[in-house]
Amino acid sequence: MTRIGQLAATFLLATALTSCSKENDQSSAKSPDWERGRGVYLANCIACHNNDPAKDGSIGPAIAGSSKELLEARVLSTNYPPNYKPKRPTKVMPQFPFLKEELPYLAAYLAK
Ligand code: HEC
Repeated sequence: MTRIGQLAATFLLATALTSCSKENDQSSAKSPDWERGRGVYLANCIACHNNDPAKDGSIGPAIAGSSKELLEARVLSTNYPPNYKPKRPTKVMPQFPFLKEELPYLAAYLAK
């Protein structure tokens, strides 16, 4: 590994550890599914949605409490479940078909 690579790895690890311990202070027992969903969310969604899914993001609305059906429709094909009233009338969000396997974890993380 290059020196830069080592530095980057150390930094990432430190960041991960810090954010974990902060979380644990607030509420301890989060399930592994929740943790995995959080990782997926942070890696794919916060360019537009807020770090805190209960708040509106720079581009996307708050999505805490989204059902699995809503997530599946949105994330896999930018649709909405039948009879769902979208929070926004826009069509900005892209689809993420490669996240199919991660949907249950995203749902666990976003469930309130
Ligand atoms: C490029 C910006 C962008 C990214 C990245 C993005 N979204 Fe969105 N999202 C939006 C916008 C904007 C909306 C509002 C509808 C629209 O314009 O598409 C939205 C709407 C939603 C909604 C529907 C909210 C409602 O109740 O009407 C859900 C659920 C959602 N996003 C989940 C996600 C998840 C999960 C991810 C990560 C896998 C993600 N989004 C990534 C921009 C984004």
